[in-house]
Amino acid sequence: VADSKQAEKTYLSTAGTERWERVKPFSSPGHDDVAEGARLIHDFGAALQCLRPSPGSRVLDLGAGSGWVSEWLRRFNVETVTVDIAVSMLGVARTRLGPKAWIIAGDLEQLPLAAGSVDHAICLNALHHVPDTVAALRETWRVLRPGGRLVVGEPGRGHEEGGTSRAASDAFGVQERALPPDVLLDACRAAGFSRSVVKPLLSGVEWYEVEPARWARWRRHAGTRRPLRAARRVGRALIEFAGWGKNGPAFEDAIGMELVRIVHDAADSHPVVLATK
Ligand SMILES: C[S@@+](CC[C@H](N)C(=O)[O-])C[C@H]1O[C@@H](n2cnc3c(N)ncnc32)[C@H](O)[C@@H]1O
Repeated sequence: VADSKQAEKTYLSTAGTERWERVKPFSSPGHDDVAEGARLIHDFGAALQCLRPSPGSRVLDLGAGSGWVSEWLRRFNVETVTVDIAVSMLGVARTRLGPKAWIIAGDLEQLPLAAGSVDHAICLNALHHVPDTVAALRETWRVLRPGGRLVVGEPGRGHEEGGTSRAASDAFGVQERALPPDVLLDACRAAGFSRSVVKPLLSGVEWYEVEPARWARWRRHAGTRRPLRAARRVGRALIEFAGWGKNGPAFEDAIGMELVRIVHDAADSHPVVLATK
């Protein structure tokens, strides 16, 4: 654990990513960072839709790295508190955010902030680097005001097996792992959040959310195999045939199943979870 935290502190120089960190989420000179940039910009928009910060409210940027999220939040007249364990990353953040910005070196597992001192919190692609997820979320819960919201966007199932993740953990020693929705939802509950939901399909249908019990049903549903589903449908069709039920026809079930799979798999591989204190 100590080793992975030390690796986080030196990552900028060992991985040599400063050029990218200075311009993130845009392309660094001579590089094609469009795919990654598009994903990051989408995540930022999704997080903003979840948090809906009012002008002047104070938002904590957790594991902020070089601070592009704080920089963009400030353009919405939001006050930011930028926290990261890596002082070198925060040096880049300082050049982005200017001398007046509130930038703090600190560990997410032990935030150097007073209880109830921020309105909302955002954590993009950082929580999965922290060894104790629940400790970090408990700390976030502590520093949020009552009713404050936290939005977390992290890599989901399969992340640690990806080529880039393997390279980062093998070559630089940073912790890479998946934080799929059910893990995040459980951790939010354990940390004390009164409500937490998965937010799939954010662009266009931002009101849409999936509470933990429904997510668990989806998980089971997305994993069911055709013979079992078909048998259930036959059973339902018989009931309907006999006039005992008004369940939808089989083709609607099939479309529903396909939609559950698509939305489930998308959120499972890149979850956005909104939690409220
Ligand atoms: C992949 S970067 C993401 C940075 C930023 N959120 C962004 O979107 O650009 C992960 C960040 O988490 C920070 N980090 C890792 N472990 C941490 C910890 N225990 N406490 C605070 N920050 C941590 C790293 O230093 C790094 O800057």
